[in-house]
Amino acid sequence: MANRLKGKTVLITGASSGIGRSTAYEFARTAASDLKLILTARRLETLQEIAADIEKNIGKGVKVYPLKLDVSNVQEIQGFVEKLPQEFKEIDVLVNNAGLVKGVAKAPEINPLDINTMISTNVTGLIAMTQAVLPIFLKRPNGGAGDIINVGSIAGREPYQGGSIYCATKAAVRSFTDSLRREMISTRVRVIEVDPGQVETEFSVVRFYGDKEKADAVYAGCDPLTPDDIAEVIVFTAGRRENVVIADTLIFPQHQAGAGGAMYKKPT
Ligand SMILES: NC(=O)c1ccc[n+]([C@@H]2O[C@H](COP(=O)([O-])OP(=O)(O)OC[C@H]3O[C@@H](n4cnc5c(N)ncnc54)[C@H](OP(=O)(O)O)[C@@H]3O)[C@@H](O)[C@H]2O)c1
Repeated sequence: MANRLKGKTVLITGASSGIGRSTAYEFARTAASDLKLILTARRLETLQEIAADIEKNIGKGVKVYPLKLDVSNVQEIQGFVEKLPQEFKEIDVLVNNAGLVKGVAKAPEINPLDINTMISTNVTGLIAMTQAVLPIFLKRPNGGAGDIINVGSIAGREPYQGGSIYCATKAAVRSFTDSLRREMISTRVRVIEVDPGQVETEFSVVRFYGDKEKADAVYAGCDPLTPDDIAEVIVFTAGRRENVVIADTLIFPQHQAGAGGAMYKKPT
């Protein structure tokens, strides 16, 4: 895998926390001799700390460029590629990971601001990032080459109460991903979807507007996945032989068999 990823430039959105952060480390460890990472999110300082830690502890072969980028702001995305330092411009892998859920409200009580945040981050942002990076892929020989890895969710396959907007955004990611794979059929662009089940990250803290106690209750009595578990799958998909497309994955912890109620919790 190290040989296949050697020399590649990987851009990860939402790299300041959770799955995105773990994915940065996993790529760095896997191709430590020669790799470039562009780490993006809104918290620049956190990205800078991660960049310094990777360069110091994983090795001189990994060059990291931290970049403040709010994917919900389409204007910020337009033109960001031109502003990248020359040595980071030739992106090979885009990991569209930035995403979030806000609240557990049901219609008609869902806050319009939350609706907008979820749709503009999870859907419009992911599509805008893809459109910004694809022209780089399509300039390459034989119709173009590169990997788009979209982080979806079990929520995109099984809608649940109190998650209607989040579920709708992840279903949109799924449809966009499947359409894009068909659109790229004559190229060497691989379009990949990684759908996690329950993973313990800042995800639930964000969902409950910073209430850590409510977030912790989500994971009480069960053993969720770690962000490293998902990072391993993401890097595995990028590290396959070029003709192999891991088009679709669904990853659960042992106690989960679906969204919402399909979850076993030990009595506490
Ligand atoms: N955790 C789960 O159970 C689970 C399950 C299925 C799917 N997922 C998906 O996995 C992905 C990663 O989530 P996570 O669990 O790792 O949660 P997390 O720990 O909260 O990380 C989310 C990341 O997204 C970034 N982000 C949020 N809004 C952004 C914006 N407008 N622009 C740029 N970056 C933004 C955050 O960075 P900043 O705050 O610094 O911008 C953060 O780095 C999401 O797409 C989520 O839907 C998670």
